[in-house]
Amino acid sequence: MDMMLSTGRIARFLRKPADQKVAALFATAKESLGLKRVAETGSSVAGHRLAAPRAVERGSAFYLAIRPDSDICFGEMPELPELARAWVRGNPVPNGADLARLYALVLNVRAVFDAGVPGDLAELGVYRGNSAAVLAHYARAAGRELLLFDTFAGFDRRDFDGVDRNRNMEFGDTSLEAVRRFVGTDRTRFFPGRFPESVPTALETARFSVVHLDCDLYAPIRAGMEFFFPRLSPGGLMIVHDYANPGWQGVKQAVDEVLADRAERPILLPDKCGTAMIRKT
Ligand SMILES: C[S@@+](CC[C@H](N)C(=O)[O-])C[C@H]1O[C@@H](n2cnc3c(N)ncnc32)[C@H](O)[C@@H]1O
Repeated sequence: MDMMLSTGRIARFLRKPADQKVAALFATAKESLGLKRVAETGSSVAGHRLAAPRAVERGSAFYLAIRPDSDICFGEMPELPELARAWVRGNPVPNGADLARLYALVLNVRAVFDAGVPGDLAELGVYRGNSAAVLAHYARAAGRELLLFDTFAGFDRRDFDGVDRNRNMEFGDTSLEAVRRFVGTDRTRFFPGRFPESVPTALETARFSVVHLDCDLYAPIRAGMEFFFPRLSPGGLMIVHDYANPGWQGVKQAVDEVLADRAERPILLPDKCGTAMIRKT
């Protein structure tokens, strides 16, 4: 059976109660991995060693991943259930199914703060605020600020140029007010408008520890790299969604151009849309 999933099927899955989600996932895993038996045994799933190559060979949309020991055995992320709910809430695109991306975000933001890297947090590309809500949690816990940049009205058509010349309008189904209500305003500042024109001169001297670029198109990714990368503290983290996503080729192009004469290089993650992370030297 072809396991490529439609957005509608994923949305129906996300609405199920937790026990039905687990049952559905195991049924899917059995089907897509060709397993005779899948049994959950604490922190591991029996049979995964033999099954994983078959998932790849068969072009399955899912693979099984074992949850990090830091979470499941040592309980180091008590905030995770609440963040996972915020990650999914009101989002019509399948962020919720992309737990690899959520774990990567949480583990790496925590690592940057544990290392004492100074600076605020920023996100360019907020949409309905799902990833912003996760960043806001850590900003507040660490007594830092989160700066959020978006048109809050979807893509700006002036960015439909070059590699993006044939794009269509997307992400218009949101608003600044709705995101404000969802993410909250404690230690959170909003910069509505087209980036980079939305950046006030007062931010020239800003310093950042974590920056999340998730705006899909060449022009804002390029502008985001040019503005934020020089303002990242040493050891700071740049997270770029869709870097290894052939559906958004301008992202990689923009990042590679800005990093061309620098020492840092992107590390690619095996999440759904090909996130890359760059640690500033
Ligand atoms: C994929 S969505 C962000 C998703 C969000 N980070 C999440 O994970 O829930 C991309 C966002 O980038 C924003 N965007 C794209 N180009 C922009 C620009 N030039 N200036 C401001 N925002 C832009 C869009 O408005 C859209 O909300």
